[in-house]
Amino acid sequence: MGKDVIIACDFASEEATLKFLDLFKDKKPFVKIGMELFYSAGPSIIKAIKARGHKIFLDLKLHDIPNTVKKSMRVLSNLDVDMVNCHASGTKAMMKAALEGLTRPDGTRPLLIAVTQLTSTDQAAMETDLLIKDDIANVVMHYAKNAKDSGLDGVVCSPLEAKKVHDACGSSFLTVTPGVRFADSNKGDQKRVMTPEQANAIGSDYIVVGRPITEAIDPVAAYERCVKEFIK
Ligand code: C5P
Repeated sequence: MGKDVIIACDFASEEATLKFLDLFKDKKPFVKIGMELFYSAGPSIIKAIKARGHKIFLDLKLHDIPNTVKKSMRVLSNLDVDMVNCHASGTKAMMKAALEGLTRPDGTRPLLIAVTQLTSTDQAAMETDLLIKDDIANVVMHYAKNAKDSGLDGVVCSPLEAKKVHDACGSSFLTVTPGVRFADSNKGDQKRVMTPEQANAIGSDYIVVGRPITEAIDPVAAYERCVKEFIK
């Protein structure tokens, strides 16, 4: 399992997604499918993209009682996706149940990655809405360690946190990092960004890149540039 660039396919429909992937011809990038597309297009989009030979990160961020998450993860595992995620705030019991549900009878399973604190949650919201009084950076690292203790493969985090996560959880614990921009491109609504090259230097294992590729004039060239800059 090596470093890779994952394209965030944040399109509104199955048709738009497959049309975008058609551009890549014989190349088969690793793609991320999120809630909006999965809930509108359903499992058939996963089957269609798998049949074309792509790896898929199914980004549904599960969070429920352990039994429900376990049974839902079994369904996702049967879709033959390559990476899925759940919220670390669902507790260690929930993460362990997720892992159990994902594991197929032959022992294989998709990678399971934890979401720590969403980047939309800041210190103030955490304290006031969730009554968590600790420093948000400590909370993120605590959740990462809980994920590691529960047997998960890694966390989604900012590339700026990738080194700290590796220091605390080991170099083989995966960091999957969005918030990546080319040095000369528009940041959009991402505030704290890194270039693919910087993300590589700091130790990200997978970078998740959306608009710099999907909205590029030549998406294939943008993807290739990303791969070249990230994977030396
Ligand atoms: O277009 P862009 O490169 O900003 O897309 C990044 C992708 O990563 C989007 O699908 C976004 O929802 C996701 N993401 C993120 N920040 C997080 C977690 C996920 O940008 N903290």
